[in-house]
This record gives sequence, C-alpha cells and structure tokens, in this order.
Amino acid sequence: MKKRILTGLKPTGDLTLGNYIGSIRQMKELESDYDSFLFVADLHALTVFQNPSELHERIRKFIAMYIACGVDPEKHTIYIQSENEFLPAMNWLLECSTYYGEASRMIQFKEKSKDNANFTVGLLTYPVLMACDILYCDAEYVPVGIDQKQHVELARDIADRFNKKYGETFKLPEFYPIKVGAKIYDLKDPSKKMSKTEENPQGVIGLFDDLDSIRSKIMKATTDSLNKVCYDPENQPGISNLLTIASVLSGEDINSIEKRFEGALYGEFKKYVAEVVTSKIGQFQQRYKEIINSKELDEILDRGREKSRELARQKYELMKERMGVVR
Ligand code: TYM
Repeated sequence: MKKRILTGLKPTGDLTLGNYIGSIRQMKELESDYDSFLFVADLHALTVFQNPSELHERIRKFIAMYIACGVDPEKHTIYIQSENEFLPAMNWLLECSTYYGEASRMIQFKEKSKDNANFTVGLLTYPVLMACDILYCDAEYVPVGIDQKQHVELARDIADRFNKKYGETFKLPEFYPIKVGAKIYDLKDPSKKMSKTEENPQGVIGLFDDLDSIRSKIMKATTDSLNKVCYDPENQPGISNLLTIASVLSGEDINSIEKRFEGALYGEFKKYVAEVVTSKIGQFQQRYKEIINSKELDEILDRGREKSRELARQKYELMKERMGVVR
C-alpha cells in the first residue's frame, strides 16, 4: 500500500507563488508515489476575522487553482476542511492532550500575537486543529514550507503523547523536506517570507495577478550592487530568491542559470525570470478559467468529503473509546 501524504492551504488571501512552490508543486510531484490528500484549511482562516463573502469565494478559487496548477484529482483526495465535522470534534480531544506551554511557544503564534492585544483563542490552538488534519488519516509525510515545520513537529509530539497515554492510536507524521524553494522571499524585502497577507503587494506574486503586473514586480524586485548573478543567500538574498524561483519553474538547475547569466546585467536576468514566471502562471490562469465553474469541481469535492469524513469518523470513535468517553 502507498504511504499517505497530506497538506492544506489556508484561504486568508489569494494564493501566491510561494504557496505554489512550497506546497502545491510538491503535491503534484509526489502524487504518483503516495496516497495524496490536499485540502483548503478554511477553518484555520477563521483564527483571524475574515470577510465572509470573500472567504466563501476564495475557498472554491483555491480548489480550482490546485487543479489548474496540475494536481491530478484522480490521484488526490481533495476536500474542504470545514465539510468534515469530525475534525473540530477531534480537536477538543487533542486540545486536552496539548500543553498550553507548547502551543504558546509556536513561532507563528508568537509573531501573530505580538503586537495584537485582541488575538483570538483560535490563534493559540491553531496547531492543534492542524494536528487533527494530519493525524485523522494517518498521514506519514506532510510537505509544507519551512514556516510550517514546527507545527508538524508539534503534531508528532501530541500524537506520541496520546499513544503513550491511551494506547496506539496515531501514526507519527514527519515533515517532508523540500530540496529547493522551502521558503520563497518577498521581492521587495527579501529578508521576509512571501506571504498572502502581506500589505505591500509589490513584493508578492499572486497566482491570480495579471501577467503585466507580475512582470513589473519582478523588474522592480530588490537586488544589490554586486552586479553578478550568483546564488549567495547571505550576501545576495534578492538575486538568490529570483534564481530559486526561476530554477523551480523552469526545471533548470541554479548552477546552469548562473553560468548563462555570467557577466549579464540584472535587467537582462530579471527579464528572463519574468518570462519564466509569466509563462507558467499564464498556463495556470488559462486552465483555472476552464475549471472554476465546472460541475466536475463539485464531483471532486463530494468524493473528497465522503472519503475524508469516513476516515475522520473512524479515528474520532477510536479516540473516544481510548479516552473512555463512551456510553
Ligand atoms: P499557509 O496557508 O500559510 O501556507 C500554505 C503552504 O504554503 C507554504 N508557503 C510557502 N512556501 C515557500 N515559500 C513561501 N513564501 C511560502 N508561503 C507559504 C506553507 O509552508 C504551506 O505549506 N497551517 C497551514 C495550513 C494547514 C496545514 C494543515 C498544512 C492547516 N492544516 C495540515 C499541512 C497540514 C498554513 O497556514 O499554511
């Protein structure tokens, strides 16, 4: 039997090139070798207040874009997290196996609660729901960008604690290490992650952006004054980020791109990167238009919902039994 991999993306803003490279692309590449689960983490989006109609629209857009990016719905179980009501039910049982200390030590929680006196309780317990997402179906590997690694490790710790206390219930999941592109950086400020919720859109390439604006963002990306196209994240973070993006999207390795642009001006190199990115995203957008209103999308989601609900129901019943909360 194939091992299971699983990942989810949170619809707090439109999908970015970082999400594609760090997450969706991995699933696409691994789908033939693993039993693959891919979902929209809409319940996770609620940890920060959302505009309901925008959130509603984004959920379907995410699913259509996964498929437009090349994820094969025949090889994947694709679903919407909130359509599986056993996940929040499991969540309570796992919250009671998670220490406040470990949840409050999560880097993302610390960052997001730092300058915000009014953060929700959900922001703190967010990684517990993420653990449920992973553990209900015994996922063995979780392909995520580096920013989510700590959450996967926490899921493993919670599962291990539960198994030791109540008896073998969960498989212990592992972070799936991504070789290139585990963190794509903001084009304007290459010291920080490219993020859906970034306020300055100039540094972020969205998968729904129009192609001219993508071109212009890349041409204006922050670089340095060293004037050499060289992969050196420490001294040339902007250029290194563009090299990573171009390499992942073109399939050409970084060394060979560096060689081709030896002695070239940054403008020339950026033009090439813009060409690679717009050509790829242009293909995604074309397919997206064909899929977004199709009936097929609902059939895929119905299938995914049934399969994920049944697995989660079984795991939830087992957890209750193990914990003694049965009639
Ligand atoms: P989210 O929505 O923040 O990000 C979705 C995925 O994209 C990756 N990612 C990046 N990778 C490389 N470079 C970037 N700049 C970049 N930005 C984002 C993230 O690492 C992630 O893999 N908590 C999760 C959603 C989630 C989940 C899960 C994931 C909920 N349950 C269970 C895996 C398993 C999140 O907020 O991802």
